[in-house]
Amino acid sequence: MDKCLVKILTVATLAMSEMPSEGWAVAPPTTLQIDMAKRGTSVSPGLHGIFFEEINHAGDGGLYAELIQNRSFEDSNLPEGYVGKKGKLYPKKTPNHVTGLYSDRVFRWYRDSLPGWSLDGEGATMQLTRLKPKFTSAPTNMNVRISDKRQAVSLVNSGYWGMNFKRGEEYSLRVILRISKQYKGKVKARLLSQDGKVVAEKPLVLKKGEDWNDLQLNLVPMATDGKGKFALMFEGGKGDVWVDYVSLFPKNTFKGRANGLRQDLAQVIADMKPAFLRWPGGSIVGGITLADRFRWKNTMGDPAARPGQLVRWGYTTTGGFGYKEMLEFCEDLGAKAMFVCNCSLADQFGYGEAAPRDSIASYVKECMDALDYALGGNDTEWGRRRIAEGHPKPYPLGYVEVGNENWGDEYDYRFDLFYRAIKAKYPELKVVSNNSLWGNKHQERPDILDPHFYGSPKAFLSNISMLDSLKRTGSEVYYGEYACNGGRGEGNMIGALADAAFIGGMERNGDLVTMASYAPLLRNQNVRHWPVNLIHFTSDSVMLRSAYYVQKMASENISTYNVKNVFSDSIRNIAYPEGGIIVDTTNPSFEVRDIVYQEGKSQKVIRCKMLRKEYSKKGLAIYFATDSLHQKGYYYNIGSWNGVFVSPGIIDAGDDGICGIYKMENDIWYDVELRVCPQHSELLVDGKEVASHTPRSIPGVYAFTGYDERSQELVIKVVNCSGKSKNMGIHIDHATSVADTGKAVVLSSEHDTDENSFASPDKIRPVVYEQKGFGKSFRYAFRPYSYTILRIKSLR
Ligand code: AHR
Repeated sequence: MDKCLVKILTVATLAMSEMPSEGWAVAPPTTLQIDMAKRGTSVSPGLHGIFFEEINHAGDGGLYAELIQNRSFEDSNLPEGYVGKKGKLYPKKTPNHVTGLYSDRVFRWYRDSLPGWSLDGEGATMQLTRLKPKFTSAPTNMNVRISDKRQAVSLVNSGYWGMNFKRGEEYSLRVILRISKQYKGKVKARLLSQDGKVVAEKPLVLKKGEDWNDLQLNLVPMATDGKGKFALMFEGGKGDVWVDYVSLFPKNTFKGRANGLRQDLAQVIADMKPAFLRWPGGSIVGGITLADRFRWKNTMGDPAARPGQLVRWGYTTTGGFGYKEMLEFCEDLGAKAMFVCNCSLADQFGYGEAAPRDSIASYVKECMDALDYALGGNDTEWGRRRIAEGHPKPYPLGYVEVGNENWGDEYDYRFDLFYRAIKAKYPELKVVSNNSLWGNKHQERPDILDPHFYGSPKAFLSNISMLDSLKRTGSEVYYGEYACNGGRGEGNMIGALADAAFIGGMERNGDLVTMASYAPLLRNQNVRHWPVNLIHFTSDSVMLRSAYYVQKMASENISTYNVKNVFSDSIRNIAYPEGGIIVDTTNPSFEVRDIVYQEGKSQKVIRCKMLRKEYSKKGLAIYFATDSLHQKGYYYNIGSWNGVFVSPGIIDAGDDGICGIYKMENDIWYDVELRVCPQHSELLVDGKEVASHTPRSIPGVYAFTGYDERSQELVIKVVNCSGKSKNMGIHIDHATSVADTGKAVVLSSEHDTDENSFASPDKIRPVVYEQKGFGKSFRYAFRPYSYTILRIKSLR
């Protein structure tokens, strides 16, 4: 465990039964019986990875160390037919490939005015132009017209909410600029403090004539300022100046890479020891329409020539943290790369456009070129390019995901085409599908399925054992995006504990779940595009949420295999409460008729006919086991999101995350039937089961046990989501020896609502205890609201 992040305490040699209760109310004892002779499934050694996407200024203004905002002046550009007005983005309409319909949805747009730049001084104007572009791929440049040579004028860049300058450190500047014949003045580069004082200055030496100058120099600030600015100052001249590109990087990037990553942010990511990195998204892969979809080739080559891409969260990314930079980062992390390619479909939570079928081959080629760049030899165009760049060795690409959050017939058709092309050339690559856990809809069986799971603590906690009974289909499961984020403030302790318990469920099902990555990873504190994010930062500081520590603890304490246990408080199937069944007839997009209710000895059944008149995000809900006010209970929701999903859920917790897939057409009458038994329910459409649900207890305390063969330690992970200390009797069977001394890593907080913040960044962080008093039988008091990992040398 990293000493910088974790305070290491050594607790006195107390027997576990004498652990101080520290004034917590002590709950009745609970037992955990561990049988070392009973080996469970292996735990995937590569389970914990990371997922990077451009959201919340995660890359530009975040991990990517560039300090200048809108360095290439391309940030206000929009794809043809898109309009940005008064904070709103109106994309060009395209039909959704599942519904055939056009959506009215509008998106965020922050870029009405010129991002990043302002002009300081009188007697000058500025204007974006495309005159004589230096790069046709990034054609926009800034024209500054100076009409009064007696006045100095500065083109000032604010950075991404300030620039972090450290006294005495080097900053590399690149400026691409040209001047008119008429302009005879000087140009100076300046680093400014927040209040405008010059902390570094150097003149730019320009060649004669009107051609572009491509200049590089170093600047060393004489004062530290976390919210600095940059200026190009023009003095003593009159005439036109055109600026195409201004880039400023700290020399001290992660591993010293040029065009590299912010040292502090990359380091906290590296500290998580991720086994893989999924990139580049997320919704950016599909784009709102295909016009703003991700194109990996636009992220290659000279950063000054990269055109950038609109991000549906309301800004433009430079593409600076591009495909090559991502692969290099994987090398630096010792992680495998997962490339998510566009599969000729736009994001289906955007407009869901599908490229015509006769153009799919070009998308497949684009994907194959990316694979060639990472893995190919001299016999491929893009493999040659990598080799020519001085990297003969392949990059550590291990996975390709075909699309992000795509579904439907068009997706299934396209997946097969991509799968076959990838496997024919690179059979060693694992191909990931967006299909859900409920079976494969393609002809080809994907190596891995990538369901995404966001929800409330209740939804997470009630799903921990769901994986135990899930049918194995031959495809592995990768939770490519998951986070307990429903109503959790900005990310609090109970959310982090729900994540920890969910991770336990994934580890316990190591034969099925082989990979997982929390989402989103990063958030610049000045924006919030997603409710809960893992790592927060400003220009000069980083704040780690309790969920970050859960990820780090889980990743550092992976067992080799699970060890079976009997836990007295384990999750059990329970009975639904007595209650009514109600078909919600208030959604105007649906018609419902012929409702028939039957109540038998052990089963309640409701049947109706249902027709969907139009596509609606909200489906038709059938509530059951509800209380008299219908505020508590369960539901099935059918026909939501283009009519494809069925989601059973708990009324006050949201979807249970168990989605069935059933494609409903408009204007067709369906026979819908809900059967509710005391411990099970199922939903049938036209006589066929489309989803089922089994209610489970949410005990609040979860125990997971495994064995680490490398260190010969028994690893006991306990998540206590309750506000009471959990005093547990732990018994280890079939062990020849259990050491007296071991380690306890504890993440805990006083309240479930506690959060780390920039004001109190260390409120919640793990503490490592050297602990005595372990043995074949011992007691341990697990703190209220805690995630505890015990590591005890034990032999069988
Ligand atoms: O992680 C935030 C978003 O959630 C991703 O962009 C998308 O894949 C998902 O819907």
